Amino acid sequence: MAVERTFSIIKPDATRRNLTGRINAVFEQNGLRIVAQKRIWMSRQHAKTFYAVHKDRPFYASLVDFMCSGPVVVQVLEGENAVAKHREVMGATDPAKAADGTIRKLFAESIEANSVHGSDSVENAAIEIAYFFAGYEIVG
Ligand code: CMP
Repeated sequence: MAVERTFSIIKPDATRRNLTGRINAVFEQNGLRIVAQKRIWMSRQHAKTFYAVHKDRPFYASLVDFMCSGPVVVQVLEGENAVAKHREVMGATDPAKAADGTIRKLFAESIEANSVHGSDSVENAAIEIAYFFAGYEIVG
């Protein structure tokens, strides 16, 4: 299996409830190494551009509002098969459908306030990482 990098966001619903450490522990227990991390407050324009792929979906405006409603923690995670592993430990987008033990099952409040975001492919991970991090901020 290849060592990959993926992009992760701990969302405002999770930072508000002081869950950053508990979520990071799940990542680390599952072989994902945090090789970059910073806590930021996204601007509206930053959130709109990041989620532009969803701009025609009915939840887009509300999602942008939510992502700007408080601090987030953006991260780069590294490990064997990191993209798929990260998606597995996050669980389904809708917490009502997420498997037991996954982050969204444990912590998410709703399909929107679902605690975490993760890239869906190695290609998109590279794009999303470059949107938030300079190369010198990533230390494997
Ligand atoms: P994320 O994995 O960050 O990708 C898009 C986000 O849109 C998703 O998590 C949710 O936070 C949010 N969202 C809100 N409603 C929906 C929906 N009906 N389907 C998918 N995503 C939704």
